[in-house]
Amino acid sequence: MDLKFEKLHEDFGARISSFNPKKLLSKDFATQIMAAIDEYSFLHFPKQVINEKKHLAFTRLLGIPEINHVKFGQEGVTDYFYTIGNVQHGGGALPNSHKTVIFQTGNNMWHSDSSFQKTPAFATITYACETPTVGGETEFVSCRSAYTRLPDLIKKEIDRLIVVHDYLFSRSKVSQDAVTPSHAVSLPPVRHKLVRENTAIRRKNYYIGSHAKEIEGWSFCESRRLLDDLLERATKADYIFTHQWEKGDFVIWDNRCLLHRGKGYDADLYRRRMRQTRVKEK
Ligand SMILES: [Fe+2]
Repeated sequence: MDLKFEKLHEDFGARISSFNPKKLLSKDFATQIMAAIDEYSFLHFPKQVINEKKHLAFTRLLGIPEINHVKFGQEGVTDYFYTIGNVQHGGGALPNSHKTVIFQTGNNMWHSDSSFQKTPAFATITYACETPTVGGETEFVSCRSAYTRLPDLIKKEIDRLIVVHDYLFSRSKVSQDAVTPSHAVSLPPVRHKLVRENTAIRRKNYYIGSHAKEIEGWSFCESRRLLDDLLERATKADYIFTHQWEKGDFVIWDNRCLLHRGKGYDADLYRRRMRQTRVKEK
């Protein structure tokens, strides 16, 4: 299949407007998409009609789907989909004051999906079912490009550091009781290298975000100084690509090297429903 990629930002991102949706579940398409993820980090297929069966089958073509950690941690239920937005099961729209909507404001901090897991998410695959007419955008930046821009001295300083990622740490910024006890037990803090390499293309990046709590062996203050500095370097206005969601958008992004954050929306006025799967790292 001959896919045409329209670049979205100098650092990353491509839109693929013409592809045959009948090929979604072909191995050839999956192979091309894996290579495109390495090259572009963010892929946007507009105006798609993709049901959940196809969405999950496509997810499995890219790797092992992640189990929804919230449902599993809270209820012990295995589900491969996350629902992002205020329209949950049943179709009613939850208001700003609802705990689910408040909980999801945690996504408005720069993060990499599931970096708090021992095996984090390699890719996130999102299908937009309902989108607000105002707000609800998602911003993305590349920590591969940010790493490239670092002075050599900092590259050397951070090369062998280990970062502790902790879901309780990031969610404590939203609310002190955002995470139930059983959910908390299911997600102990994990260690990840700060500098990681995509070995297929030999490109390095740094791996941070809201779940990144501290550097192993460093004081909390020293850790925050470095992690906050790296975040600031990556998220300058010129480096941000903003995706304005439209119904039917099918979007894949590479969590290994991108950070993203929600821009928020008024759940009292608008409906938002995204169905999302994640592919685990190998
Ligand atoms: Fe996210």
